[in-house]
Amino acid sequence: MNLSVDLAGVTLKNPVMTASGTFGSGQEYSEFVDLSCLGAVVTKGVANVPWPGNPVPRIAETYGGMINAIGLQNPGIDVFVKRDIPFLRQYDTRIIVNVCGKTTEDYVEVVERLADEPVDMLEINISCPNVKEGGIAFGQDTKAAEAITRAVKEKAAQPVIMKLSPNVTDIGEMAKAVEAGGADVISLINTITGMKIDIHKRTFAVANKTGGLSGPAVKPAAVRMVYQAAQAVKVPVIGMGGILCAEDALEFILAGASAVAVGTANFHNPYATSEVVDGIRAYMERYGIEDIRELIGAVR
Ligand SMILES: Cc1cc2nc3c(=O)[nH]c(=O)nc-3n(C[C@H](O)[C@H](O)[C@H](O)COP(=O)(O)O)c2cc1C
Repeated sequence: MNLSVDLAGVTLKNPVMTASGTFGSGQEYSEFVDLSCLGAVVTKGVANVPWPGNPVPRIAETYGGMINAIGLQNPGIDVFVKRDIPFLRQYDTRIIVNVCGKTTEDYVEVVERLADEPVDMLEINISCPNVKEGGIAFGQDTKAAEAITRAVKEKAAQPVIMKLSPNVTDIGEMAKAVEAGGADVISLINTITGMKIDIHKRTFAVANKTGGLSGPAVKPAAVRMVYQAAQAVKVPVIGMGGILCAEDALEFILAGASAVAVGTANFHNPYATSEVVDGIRAYMERYGIEDIRELIGAVR
């Protein structure tokens, strides 16, 4: 039985990866999950310099999910390269580094720093709803999205995944724009902008007022957008948004995702990623499917 998939020439032993920002670089989760059983570990977003993130409170629970406004807190590329890459290199999994920035130059600086590092792919976050400049400013305009993709691709030594925002009118147009800019792979969805009010304190539940909604509540919207993006472009698509179990992951794969990422689920079930791998294998056995690639985009 074959579970391996190909993303722009990079072979993943199975299609299951972690969603950026929900798994650190795997240090804490490695106590629960053998990282070598995952197709890839996608790191928390890293910028050219350390970012402090947003004021607290930064997370709130919602029905079937959560709102977060972390604001891409990260230690910066220097610490990341020394601390996180050597850790991940101990495991037999692909390393995908998620990159954030406020300006095109910020993104390009990180991408250039990673050129000589042993990482397999770069995921460019142009879709974070929780930072004022950069991030989503690039992800809600087709021209800006195409331009940042082109700028990153010019300097990138590794294949580039562009991570799209669901907070747009036409996801197919955004997918086409980054493909035109040279994206090797597209990933989606990032979080959906949301708000929660604390009625007892009569204030916003997160200090940033708005935050990104994630978890099972967003899954039907995510499956729809992954389907539309996969229909719009030729490059492979990585699907995510509310995956808790293998059945959820299989919906994304059947809708056109070549790989899937597990995010918010990790917070209440640290075994979620490896359970999704096992569940996909069990599904394939049950239905006599020899190769996972038979399932990718099988529902049209
Ligand atoms: C606490 C938290 C932090 C996140 N940090 C990042 C990040 O640094 N970079 C990024 O591209 N996406 C980030 N995301 C978005 C997730 O990677 C994912 O796209 C989204 O949460 C949808 O998947 P899920 O419903 O399985 O969590 C974050 C999500 C959460 C909940």
